[in-house]
Amino acid sequence: MKILLVGGGGREHALAWKLAQDRRRPELFCAPGNAGTAELGVNVPIPAEDIDGVVAWARREKPDLTVIGPEAPLCAGLADRLHAEGFRAFGPCRAAAQLEGSKVFAKSVLQAAGVPTAQSETFTNAEKALAYVRAAKSPLVVKADGLASGKGVLICANTREAEDAVATAMIHQSFGKAGRQILVEEFLEGEEVSILALVDGRQAVLLPSAQDHKRALDGDLGLNTGGMGAYSPAPMETAAFRKMVLDTIFNPTLKELRRRDITYQGVLYAGLMMTAAGPKVLEFNCRFGDPETQVILPRLKGDLIPAMEACITGNLLPEHAACRPEACVCVVMTAGGYPGAYRKGDAIAGLKEAAALSETMVFHAGTKLAGKQIVTAGGRVLGVTALGRTLCETAGKAYQAVARITFQDAHYRRDIAAKGIKRNRG
Ligand code: AMP
Ligand code: GLY
Repeated sequence: MKILLVGGGGREHALAWKLAQDRRRPELFCAPGNAGTAELGVNVPIPAEDIDGVVAWARREKPDLTVIGPEAPLCAGLADRLHAEGFRAFGPCRAAAQLEGSKVFAKSVLQAAGVPTAQSETFTNAEKALAYVRAAKSPLVVKADGLASGKGVLICANTREAEDAVATAMIHQSFGKAGRQILVEEFLEGEEVSILALVDGRQAVLLPSAQDHKRALDGDLGLNTGGMGAYSPAPMETAAFRKMVLDTIFNPTLKELRRRDITYQGVLYAGLMMTAAGPKVLEFNCRFGDPETQVILPRLKGDLIPAMEACITGNLLPEHAACRPEACVCVVMTAGGYPGAYRKGDAIAGLKEAAALSETMVFHAGTKLAGKQIVTAGGRVLGVTALGRTLCETAGKAYQAVARITFQDAHYRRDIAAKGIKRNRG
């Protein structure tokens, strides 16, 4: 079996790692991949956003399955293009991917479906948006409608910051086309949790829950990042919580999409805020999370290919998402300075020593091969991941592995999973 995996981050290395263990032992190709995926298959030098390039490769090489990792190719219609040529692809079509590609679309679906979410107003006119934020109560959240590489959400403590945020998006057009429309949203308070589900067009089956750590520094301080680490299960996860999330969030959302004649197939990721009034949807993503995937896939009991095929054919079963009882923790090591400017091309040492520890996986993100040496090639460099009995023990194992890895100016948070450990003790 031949599989093409589109993307080149930590998520894709984790996907490649899980796919490579499948009993069908697939032949893996990764576009463009990283130094980690190169150990499991063949990297193909096609950027994930180059849809024409990916389709041309598929025509030539005829993969049995294409797994699309990142949001950009999904929102640009890569799954539609592959389907049109008769190829099987895991990931939603363009219309369904709008749940991530347009926050205005996602909000209209949430509102129509009666799913709990922050109150919000949509604006296409800067003057009207400015008048609104001047009259509204702070704090406010200003969101660019379209994809903005995770930078399009601005949390505004006061009116002045909200005015600046509107100007950033609509007048200075700092997010390009993505900021032509904005949402101004009520600020929600609480703890965040990522709930991902496999979806087969009709129904959703929840994967293990996870909690990400968005800020760059310990104690949730510093700038927002793509994610500095994750752990699974999230502390609020109980059977009752999972049922409530399925009944009040996923099922009504899918029903509303069906009403609009949109079929969702792939992973649907709901970013939730646990407010005093219950969980509310902050955002949808149309794909696996990064670094959530690095802690979800090691906990998945069965093979991934049958689960993905079941999503495509509409035959998803709860067993496809069955999970192991162990906890999983991923500590992201970044280049110093990330998410600001950072160095690239520094040699990474200790990768083998770290991976040799029991139940430890070192997932690569921004890495590449320079001759025989693995070097840094991005902001998030590695996701050092361990599986273990308790969250506390597992975090200890992940940090032991982190201690064996060195590269110039490496940075990581020291408190990944600390909230969950505290909650379990308390
Ligand atoms: P996103 O880029 O859509 O993932 O949003 C980034 C982050 O912004 C989320 O993970 C939350 O931490 C925060 N956020 C988004 N919307 C709200 C909101 N209405 N209230 C509070 N925080 C929010
Ligand atoms: N970890 C957040 C995301 O994947 O968007």
